[in-house]
Amino acid sequence: MRRDGTSTYQSVIPMSLVVGTRLGSLEITALLGKGGMGEVYRARDLKLKRDVAIKILPDEFSRDPERVSRFQREAEVLAALNHQNIAAIYDVQQCGAIRFLILEFVEGDSLADILRKRGALPLDEALNIAKQTCDALEAAHEKGIVHRDLKPANIRIVADGKVKVLDFGLAKAIEHAPTGTTTLSDSSTLVSMAATSTGLILGTAAYMAPEQTKGKTVDRRADIWAFGVVLYEMLTGRMLFSGETASETMFAVMMKEPDWSTLPANVPARVRELLRRCLSKEPRNRVQAIGEGASRLKRRRAGRNSMAIAQRGRRTADRRFGLGSRQFRS
Ligand SMILES: Nc1ncnc2c1ncn2[C@@H]1O[C@H](COP(=O)(O)OP(=O)(O)O)[C@@H](O)[C@H]1O
Ligand SMILES: [Mg+2]
Repeated sequence: MRRDGTSTYQSVIPMSLVVGTRLGSLEITALLGKGGMGEVYRARDLKLKRDVAIKILPDEFSRDPERVSRFQREAEVLAALNHQNIAAIYDVQQCGAIRFLILEFVEGDSLADILRKRGALPLDEALNIAKQTCDALEAAHEKGIVHRDLKPANIRIVADGKVKVLDFGLAKAIEHAPTGTTTLSDSSTLVSMAATSTGLILGTAAYMAPEQTKGKTVDRRADIWAFGVVLYEMLTGRMLFSGETASETMFAVMMKEPDWSTLPANVPARVRELLRRCLSKEPRNRVQAIGEGASRLKRRRAGRNSMAIAQRGRRTADRRFGLGSRQFRS
């Protein structure tokens, strides 16, 4: 089982770009890594004089006009996301046979790197990261966008502890990716074997919600689940669900109840309660809106006097986002 964020994915892209390659006004400066979708490079935008990250879309994908146009539509929705805790999508471009996404380059360590190096995080630090992650999810959910692949490898911590969530909605946008040579692992974005009539689903085994592993329609409550898994991991330094193979991990996701006794003693009751409610196997028993999570995390920082105000705010949020009061976009 790997938690290092590295991928065991064997790329279906025959070529690798070398440093110095030009793609229009972009010059490749480094390979950042290889994820479930393909290679990610750091590049210099020579026109705008800024660094960007570029994500190469799978070759097979680029050759299917229907998927390209669907992706284009999704990318337009994602590009409308504008939030300080969300890494921006700048553009989708094509250069020769290569189609790629241009993304905000996010410096810093991923939460996966941090957890690997340091293990469990101190309570305040974990809650601070959790709070900012909630803010990012809330902003996206308000626009009807579900992340669908939230995991420590997609959360980066930049200067001064600021959080940037990467890859928002890309799993859906790229869906029906080629399966040919994909090797499954717990921590890499994968093409799930839980294929359904609607096609294959993308996600990362250890952080997928139970309904996602079953190939069911996914809504924002899948992100709320993944948020719970990530928060648990920050507090304990342990992955909540794992297995020798992705299928074993997905089985654990569906069947295993978290061991709450592993949470450090200083985790406040309301954070435990939040975790329990994020990690309910049944989506309708989960926290229904991530804003509720944010207000629970916030209340820790507020003084006793502000508790009543925060509680009132939460009740308002509960009413606003009550179950059944909204249609979820999958
Ligand atoms: N916008 C970005 N800025 C900086 N690094 C990035 C960016 N997007 C992806 N990366 C890095 O590139 C590598 C591959 O990313 P990705 O394909 O998203 O795989 P995964 O999310 O499964 O780790 C990872 O190390 C990731 O941290
Ligand atoms: Mg990623």
